[in-house]
Amino acid sequence: MRKIVAGNWKMHKDREGTKAFVAGLMELSVPEGVEVIIAPPFPFLAAAVEQLGGSAIVVAAQNCHQKVQGAFTGEVSAAMLKSIGVKACIVGHSERRQYFGETDTAVGEKISALLENDITPIYCCGELKDERVAGRHFEVVTAQLNAAFAALSAEQLKRIVVAYEPVWAIGTGLTASAEQAQEMHAHIRSLLASYGEAVASSVPVLYGGSCKPDNAAELFANPDVNGGLIGGAALDGKQFAELIRIAGAH
Ligand code: PGA
Repeated sequence: MRKIVAGNWKMHKDREGTKAFVAGLMELSVPEGVEVIIAPPFPFLAAAVEQLGGSAIVVAAQNCHQKVQGAFTGEVSAAMLKSIGVKACIVGHSERRQYFGETDTAVGEKISALLENDITPIYCCGELKDERVAGRHFEVVTAQLNAAFAALSAEQLKRIVVAYEPVWAIGTGLTASAEQAQEMHAHIRSLLASYGEAVASSVPVLYGGSCKPDNAAELFANPDVNGGLIGGAALDGKQFAELIRIAGAH
C-alpha cells in the first residue's frame, strides 16, 4: 500500500509563506510509493494548485460543508473545492469536533459530498486522554468509525483515507508509542474489514499526533501504519522533507 505524508497546516502561514513552502517542496525528489499531501488554509488552495502544476503533490482542504450549496455563511462546499483542483480534504479533525461541534453524522455526510466530487476524504478519529486512561480507546474509535461510515457503501469506503490521531498527542509533544499506534491501527484495519476485505486492503491508515522526524521511523515501520498526518512538523520545509524521506524508507 502507498505511504502518505500529509501536512495539516491548520491556521498557519500567509500567501508568501505558502508560495515559498510549495517552491521548496517542488525541488524535492519524492521517493517511489510515497504520496505527499499539503493542506493549506482555504485562501491559499487555488494558488498552491496552480503553482504545483502537473506535480504529483496533492493539495487538500482542511474542511468542507456537507451540503451542495445554500445559505451557509462562511462555509465552502466540496464542489467549490473540486472546481479549483483540490483533490483531498481532511474531515472530522479533533479540533473541528472540539471547537466547532462537528458530529460523526455530519462527518459522514461530508465524506459522501467529497466522494461525489472525486475528492479523497481524510477521515480523522481518535480518543481523548480521559478515554485512553479509562481503557475506552478502542470502544471510542469503533463508535466514531461506525457512526461516520454507516451510510457509506464499500465502494465509497475504498476511496477514503483514515487518520488515527489520539487527541492527547495532538500538538502536545506526546506521541503514541509505536506499539500503541500499531495496536490501534490493526484495530481500525479490522473494523474496515467488517465493511469488506477490499476496504481493509485499500484504505491507508495514517498516524497523527506530534509525529516528527525523530519518532516517524518507528511509527511508519509498523505494518498497519501507512504514513502520517502531520501538524507542527509539516510547517517547516526541512522537517517535512525529512518525514517524506523516512516514509520512503519504511
Ligand atoms: P501535530 O498535529 O502533529 O501538531 O500534533 C497533528 C494534527 O492535528 O493533524
